[in-house]
Amino acid sequence: MKGVILAGGTATRLKPLTSVVNKHLLPVYNQPVIYYPLEKMKQAGIKDVLITTGTEHTGQFMNLLRSGSKFGLKISYEVQEQPRGLADAVRLAEDFSDGEPILVILGDNVFQHNLKPAVAKFKKQKRGAKIFSVPIKNPGQYGVVEIDKKGRVLSIEEKPKKPKSYLVQTGIYLYDGQVFDLIKKLKPSPRGELEITDLNNLYLAKGELTCEVMKGWWVDVGTSFDELLRANQLVAKEIRK
Ligand code: TTP
Repeated sequence: MKGVILAGGTATRLKPLTSVVNKHLLPVYNQPVIYYPLEKMKQAGIKDVLITTGTEHTGQFMNLLRSGSKFGLKISYEVQEQPRGLADAVRLAEDFSDGEPILVILGDNVFQHNLKPAVAKFKKQKRGAKIFSVPIKNPGQYGVVEIDKKGRVLSIEEKPKKPKSYLVQTGIYLYDGQVFDLIKKLKPSPRGELEITDLNNLYLAKGELTCEVMKGWWVDVGTSFDELLRANQLVAKEIRK
């Protein structure tokens, strides 16, 4: 199993904080944002991690993270020429993954859940993909996931008016080796991006998509200043314990 962290994008929702600083290099309490998904990779037992970045900030990521040895990881880098979506960024990991399954984490996701058991179980699985969700009070602003008792995904609906569950999709995904062939089948969405939801829906249509409900808190730091602040407060509370 190899790891992929997506750290490109435009981060318009956090401007002007992100006018010259990359979103994943902003501080969350005592560390840059990107340290948190890196720590989750390490905790999951993954040693080989690819970071995909946009063209502007690649040098800064390399200056900060270097070979990865200070984290006990081997870090590689790929440049996404244009921010053409999450599935477009995952596509860059084809040579890196070399047929192995991959754990993909969005670089701006900060969370408590330990991915190690799910990763160990997924390694034994022959085919398929897994997404991770968390229950929240007002799920209507997110991608809402409906699952059966065995954790098989029945539907994913983006910003539904009548949510079918309280579970929302997070930025953490496990994919088997088919993922790159499936990405090649995707067409750009109306906003011109290769959407990760379209990719997950291809697995869903084949009956090969499962979902794990995560424990603890989860923050998508890139959503708003309030979410960035919330991540700072949650991490600070944990450290002061
Ligand atoms: P988003 O937060 O959905 O997109 P964004 O970072 O461009 O922000 P905004 O919508 O405010 O402009 O991206 C989720 C994660 O995926 C984030 O960590 C950046 C990364 N990403 C890429 O690596 N490549 C891309 O093409 C996009 C769109 C996002």
